[in-house]
Amino acid sequence: MREVLAERIRSVPPSGIRKFFDIIATVDDVISLGVGEPDFVTPASITQAGIQSLQRGETSYTSNAGLMELREELSAYLENLYGVHYDPSEELLITVGVSEALYLALLSVVDPGDEVIVPEPCFVSYRPGVIFAGGTPITIEAKVENGFQITGADIERAVTPRTKALLIGYPNNPTGAVMSRERLTEIAEVAEKNDFLVLSDEIYDRLVYGVEHVCFPTLPGMKERTILLGGFSKSYAMTGWRLGYAAAPAEILGGMRKAHQYIIMCAPITAQIAGIEALRHGEEAVQEMLREYDQRRRVIVDGLNTIGMPCVEPKGAFYAFPSIRNTSLSSEEFSDGLLREQKVAVIPGTAFGECGEGFVRCAYATSLVQIEEALGRMEDFVRRNRR
Ligand SMILES: Cc1ncc(COP(=O)(O)O)c(C=O)c1O
Repeated sequence: MREVLAERIRSVPPSGIRKFFDIIATVDDVISLGVGEPDFVTPASITQAGIQSLQRGETSYTSNAGLMELREELSAYLENLYGVHYDPSEELLITVGVSEALYLALLSVVDPGDEVIVPEPCFVSYRPGVIFAGGTPITIEAKVENGFQITGADIERAVTPRTKALLIGYPNNPTGAVMSRERLTEIAEVAEKNDFLVLSDEIYDRLVYGVEHVCFPTLPGMKERTILLGGFSKSYAMTGWRLGYAAAPAEILGGMRKAHQYIIMCAPITAQIAGIEALRHGEEAVQEMLREYDQRRRVIVDGLNTIGMPCVEPKGAFYAFPSIRNTSLSSEEFSDGLLREQKVAVIPGTAFGECGEGFVRCAYATSLVQIEEALGRMEDFVRRNRR
C-alpha cells in the first residue's frame, strides 16, 4: 500500500513530553514536576459564569471572531495593562487556546520555503507549527550563560532573504526566562531593519516575579509587524476551557480570521463567557496564584542549587530549568531514571530542542509539600549518579 501519511506529519517527531506522560501513567505514586499546567482549579466566579450561561441556554455558535463583548473587554484589558490599543472589530480574534492562535498565525503568514527563526529551548509546538504551515524553522540557541535570553545579534546572524518571521515566547517555557526591555528593543531593531514579522507568544505574561513583562507590540514600530498571542490557560488556570486570542494588524488578523472561520468556526461560547468574567473580575485570583507560585519558585530554585542541579533563576512562568551536567547522564536518561527509581517526573530538556541537552524542566505548578518531597528524592538520585 502506498504511504498514507503526508510528509508534513511524518517529518515531525512525536512530542517528547507526551512520551513521558505515557511512562508516568504506568508508574504509581509519582510526584509530577512534569505537567505544564496550573494545579489550581479555575477561580469559582469564572466557573460560575460558564455554568450560568449554560443554564440560560447559551449553547450556540458565536461570531467567528468571538463574542464582541469579550473582544471589547480584551481590548480594554490590553490597553489598561500595556497601553496598547487593538480595535475589537478588526484586530482581535478569539481562539481555541494559544495553540490555535499560533497555528493560525503561521498558516496565515508563512509560504512554502519561508524561514521562521525559532529560538530554542522553546515550547514543543513551535517547530511543528512552522513545518505544518509549509515553512522552514531556523533554530538559534538561547544560551544558559545569557540567562536563556537571546540578543539582537543572535537573531541577525540567522536572518536570510527568506526570513519571514521570528517566533518568540517569553516568559519562556521551558526556561522561565523573561526578556529585558533592552534585549527586546535590539530584536525590534533587527525586525525593522530586515522587514520580518514577529510572532510573540505571551501566554505567561501575567506570571512574572519582580520583573517587568514587556509586551512586544508596545515597542516603537512593532505593533504593525507583531502578532501577539495570549490566553487564559495559565494566568486564570483555565487550560481545559480552551480559550486564547490573537491581536494583530487588521490585514493579518483578517487572514487569520478567514482560516479560523473555515477550520474552527468559533471558540466555545461557554469558555468565551467565562473569559469575560475572568477579564472583569479575575485579577485578585491572578495575584493570589502568583504569590503562591513565587513561594514555590524560591523553594525549588534554592533546593535545586543545593542538591547539585545548578539553576538560573527563572523570572517568569512556572518552570525551573536546572543543569544536570554534574551527573553522567543525558537529559533523557536522567528523566527516565529519576522516574523509574525515585518516582519523580521531570521533562528532558531535549523535548524543547536539541540545545536542551544537559537540562531538565521542573514545573513548580504543584504543592510545596510535593516540591520538597521531590527535591529530597532528586538529591538521592543526583548523589548516586554524580560524574
Ligand atoms: C509557551 C506556550 N504557548 C502556548 C501554549 C498553549 O496554550 P493554550 O492552552 O492556550 O493552547 C502553552 C501550553 O503549555 C505554552 O507553554
